[in-house]
Amino acid sequence: MSLSGNESRDGFSSRFGIICATAGSAIGLGNIWRFPYIVGESGGGAFLLIYLAFILLLGIPVMLSEFTIGRRGQRNALGSFKRLAPRKPWYLVGVMGIVAAFMILAFYSTIAGWTLEYVSKALTNAFAGKSPEEINLMFVNFHTGTFWPLLWQFAFMAMTAWIILSGVQKGIEKYAKVLMPFLVVLLVIMALRAITLPGSGEGLSFLFRPNFAAIDSGVVLAALGQAFFSLSIGMGTLITYGSYIRKENNLGNISVEVSLADTLIAILAGVAIFPAVFAFGLDPADGPGLIFTVLPNIFQQMPGGYFFAIVFFVLLTIAALTSSISILEVVVAYMTEELKLSRRKATIMAAMAAAFVGVFCTLSFGLLQDVTISGLHVFGLLDFTASNLLLPLGGLLIVLFVGWYLSSSVVRDEISSGGMFKARFFAVLMFVLKFIAPVAIAIVLFDSLGII
Ligand code: TRP
Repeated sequence: MSLSGNESRDGFSSRFGIICATAGSAIGLGNIWRFPYIVGESGGGAFLLIYLAFILLLGIPVMLSEFTIGRRGQRNALGSFKRLAPRKPWYLVGVMGIVAAFMILAFYSTIAGWTLEYVSKALTNAFAGKSPEEINLMFVNFHTGTFWPLLWQFAFMAMTAWIILSGVQKGIEKYAKVLMPFLVVLLVIMALRAITLPGSGEGLSFLFRPNFAAIDSGVVLAALGQAFFSLSIGMGTLITYGSYIRKENNLGNISVEVSLADTLIAILAGVAIFPAVFAFGLDPADGPGLIFTVLPNIFQQMPGGYFFAIVFFVLLTIAALTSSISILEVVVAYMTEELKLSRRKATIMAAMAAAFVGVFCTLSFGLLQDVTISGLHVFGLLDFTASNLLLPLGGLLIVLFVGWYLSSSVVRDEISSGGMFKARFFAVLMFVLKFIAPVAIAIVLFDSLGII
């Protein structure tokens, strides 16, 4: 059996399709919902600098490593490790990825459900004429409830499962290709509106002026977790997608382009949010509800705001879908290839299991808000464990695998597509994979856990 053939596997049809699908996975709630609220809780500018350093130094190398493993292994995350390292425990990285996928899918669908509610609020013009306090109250009333948050969450999970059922090319690629550019245009318009609000300057300096007094080991860990979450790395999503990429495509270029696009969109979201936070006298450290309490205020101050609000929340839902399908695909690819289940059965079972866990996440803002473990409710606990612990740990093992376990000729062969491309920065890359990235991830992870 050839390790590099794509013969009978479903795959992406074009380079453009790969970029869109990978960027579609990376760009999602992580950029527009999670990034601003984590920046807000972490004190602003200094966090941003550390975040950017992590994207460049760790994010791009981990992404490239995942692609390398996937395209070489031609299997799901777990199967690729089994194939490249037979009878070795490396496949446990894949197992960890599947656990992380369930956790992320669960809390991701909570927030995507909130987004759907905001589509419906926008349609009924619910923000019109409301003060920032009233907009805040509206959010509190909704997200501490039971029926609607759960209903929207299930609706989102059903949409995710439905797309996954139609397969890679017809499903993932088709949806990812079309709509993302619109979201970018809309964000630019919103950012322009936000920075021209009176009193917005303070928001820009919050985001861009580093205040190193705000930095501690928890903030550094949060930056690492956010970098991994936003790039969709550390749990095998991009190993899985890598296995659908054809040999003719340049993995290095794709990694750099996708990381760049993802980062620019996060910053754009920051530029839309923080000026508005300060202009409306809100609190940047407001937590996971931040975009839902801030953005409706911007729409109110825009000509055509009614339509902008609808289009924005619809596009955000689609961005969330192109990400959630990439998480569910990790589990489904594993179940179909390793457990030999039909795609249909695997999708339904995985989506139902994730929806079950998701119920506890959603209710942790309402009914279950007093159920906490070391100060975190279910939502916070799953988010912290998956994003800040499992993803970095997965990333650490992934760079060690590519840097030390795979032979460097195999890595060079994948990265140069068998000599088709010059692997210009190969020596630098290997040095980063062998030494810099593992040491940096280990220090951040173990330091914040108090292990060193
Ligand atoms: N990166 C996506 C976002 O920013 C979420 C996501 C998709 C993800 N696949 C992932 C996060 C894999 C971690 C791991 O919204």
